[in-house]
Amino acid sequence: MKSEILRALREANGNFISGQALCEKAGVTRQAVWKNVGQLRECGFIIESVPNKGYSLVSSPDKLYAADIESRIKPGSFCRKVESYDITDSTNTRAKQLAELGEEEGTLVVAEEQTAGKGRRGRHWESEPGTSVYMSMVLRPETSPVHIPGITLLAALAVVKAIRNVCNAQPLIKWPNDVVLGKKKICGILTEMSSELSYINYVVVGIGINANNRCFPEELKYKATSIYLETGHKQDRAQLAALAVQYFGEYYKKFIKAESLEPFISEYNSLLINMGKEVEILYGMQENADKSRTETGIARGINSDGALVVDTKHGTECVVSGEVSVRGVYGYV
Ligand code: BTN
Repeated sequence: MKSEILRALREANGNFISGQALCEKAGVTRQAVWKNVGQLRECGFIIESVPNKGYSLVSSPDKLYAADIESRIKPGSFCRKVESYDITDSTNTRAKQLAELGEEEGTLVVAEEQTAGKGRRGRHWESEPGTSVYMSMVLRPETSPVHIPGITLLAALAVVKAIRNVCNAQPLIKWPNDVVLGKKKICGILTEMSSELSYINYVVVGIGINANNRCFPEELKYKATSIYLETGHKQDRAQLAALAVQYFGEYYKKFIKAESLEPFISEYNSLLINMGKEVEILYGMQENADKSRTETGIARGINSDGALVVDTKHGTECVVSGEVSVRGVYGYV
């Protein structure tokens, strides 16, 4: 109900909306509107009310609040439900627990702080409270598990589009799914799946966006940055989260129908920071030099499976796993 009230207030665009109109739009009684407006005020929303004029939303708190995010997602989106936490271990872990309990596709878990944020390859994801977007979506795609890596690339596309929309910055993508701004990383994506050989139980796509961080631990400074540090402007995290989910839903619907990244190749390649550049492909664990092999070549973009096509001295390789790093192009590699 709070999300409907916030949606109706927001649709009034800073103008007053009468109590009666608010009741009708939110489908609730006057008393319910009054009670929920009170509760929203307690959460930090500034809502003005003037007799004979109605209610007006003056400002929203700088917080990832479930009803606020829900109210900003267009009706009809695949995401209809948001769960928000002040603190959790990891939104991915939380989303997986919900999925195990039968949660429907499209539920979004967001948190202000993570005590055990997870990165790719078992790494830790630094999760400073109140500055970033930590969110994870529950998906139940009716497709083969082989298509799942493509979903991660779409999440990167959605984040880029959301950032471009909220702040006019021009982030790019480091294959397969890091979002970079000013040649440093501002977003990481971790996709986890529970499946059998040919049947997907669920997929969780976790996204961490460095929105308003003012600094990073010494060991991350060379490769991590935030939108705030790059643009000088504080970002509306709830809007960023809502838009990223909204765009992801649109890409995802198209992808599941096509069962291929074909419809997204040109958009993705136009955002690829590696495009036409020399890249180093590291096969195996970077940390384990004994078990890794490297190859260099020129990146030519992705194919319809999401593999990076690289021209090497041995011919053209389609890189589906391993890690690609770009030498001499941006700071964190
Ligand atoms: C990476 O290593 O680049 C992936 C980082 C993914 C971090 C996000 S933050 C929200 C979600 N919850 C987690 O524990 N991890 C992902």
